[in-house]
Amino acid sequence: MTEGSSMHLGVFCMATGNHVAGWRLPGSFTSNEDIAALTHIARVAEAGKFDFIFVADGLSASVGDHPGTIARLEPFTLMSALSMRTHRIGLIGTASSTYTEPYNLARLVSSLDHLSSGRAGWNVVTTSTVQAAGNFGAEAPPEHDLRYEMAAEFVEVVQGLWDSWEDGARLADRESGRYVDPAKIHALDHKGRFFVVKGPLNSSRSCQGRPVIVQAGASAAGRAFASRYAEAIFTVQQDIEEAKAFYRRTKQDVAAQGRAPDQCKILPGLFPVIGRTDEEARATLASFVDMVDERSALNTLSERLGHDMSGYDLDAPMPELPPSAHIHSYAAVVRTLAQRPGCTLRDIYNIFAVSRAYLVACGSPATIADLMEEWFTSGACDGFMVVPATFPGTFDRFVEGVVPELQRRRLFRSAYVGRTLRDHLGLKMPANRFAPPAAGASRDRSA
Ligand SMILES: Cc1cc2nc3c(=O)[nH]c(=O)nc-3n(C[C@H](O)[C@H](O)[C@H](O)COP(=O)(O)O)c2cc1C
Repeated sequence: MTEGSSMHLGVFCMATGNHVAGWRLPGSFTSNEDIAALTHIARVAEAGKFDFIFVADGLSASVGDHPGTIARLEPFTLMSALSMRTHRIGLIGTASSTYTEPYNLARLVSSLDHLSSGRAGWNVVTTSTVQAAGNFGAEAPPEHDLRYEMAAEFVEVVQGLWDSWEDGARLADRESGRYVDPAKIHALDHKGRFFVVKGPLNSSRSCQGRPVIVQAGASAAGRAFASRYAEAIFTVQQDIEEAKAFYRRTKQDVAAQGRAPDQCKILPGLFPVIGRTDEEARATLASFVDMVDERSALNTLSERLGHDMSGYDLDAPMPELPPSAHIHSYAAVVRTLAQRPGCTLRDIYNIFAVSRAYLVACGSPATIADLMEEWFTSGACDGFMVVPATFPGTFDRFVEGVVPELQRRRLFRSAYVGRTLRDHLGLKMPANRFAPPAAGASRDRSA
């Protein structure tokens, strides 16, 4: 199987489990700061030939939050440790373009790319919460679309810094005593609306050219940003027809930016609930719903929607919310769910609390593989971000049961073909803006 024909799989690595109460099940990991647990997850993902593990991040903590987010390791610090304990798995961490400087970020992610021999990716987030703003001297974050304008310039600077060393700039020629070729190291001299950055970076170009850029926004501004920069997009989708429409539209938008559509992979979150039989899986799903406690469920829903959801009648239909309160991608999911006949606020909060709004795939490994096959082969996605309820339980079961079923159907690789995250995702090595174009090189921006 070539990399191009394999679906792509990542895992949402949250040691306490993505289910809000996953950590309470006997045998589950209980801390998102436990390096042994996090190493186990990375190694299981690698044994399953996953493209990458993904670590989310936020810049605040409050005691009512999801347990995996109250205390967690800074993603690139964690990924650096994991890069020493794994060999092939891609390592995608989250960092905020609103509360970091581009030079720091470019260096941080480039360092991981060197440590891991080209396995690093950066999930660009703009950080919407008031709590995070409070940790950076502000009462509120910059306005939504302004954050994306800042993010666009931020990414331009970061990519410029990653290009500031051409391949072959380090000579280390003992004979002549020349360590570098100054003609291959470039200042950026960026003076923009938000950032002034001279460059060059004090980190050379890595073996995959540049770390992979990932993005997960679904608003108009988020999608415009993604079509320009994202090489992978994480989505929250429940409905296959909506997912197909999103896929088609996004690939067109990517092409309109002068990029090859296959250079941007679309990966919806998939929440697997696995049993030996469909019936056993349904019983497990019911137990996941029973484990939801009302207060934390409402907290998750409020945080997802950017609106305090306590005080509404849980057994009534979903109320209309003020549009300005919506965090767009989740609001779209709620809109889809709310249209289902008889759907109440309680149904919606259960879905948010159990699966964090990701698509639930409940059944035997074959049933789950059927759903994944349908989405993948009908043009709804390029693969999935697997969002396990518990670790190690659900994820180990996925790798032991569902992955072989996907491999048997020739939908997923049985062995790694390449070594870098770009190789796994089928992404081309990016051209360096400072280097003379190689003969016959693609003019695609992302190539
Ligand atoms: C799979 C996935 C992972 C995400 N990870 C993070 C994260 O680690 N940190 C964060 O602040 N936001 C994260 N988000 C939220 C998005 O970056 C984005 O803020 C949200 O989808 C709203 O975007 P929009 O305003 O463009 O609709 C994630 C979203 C998804 C779907």
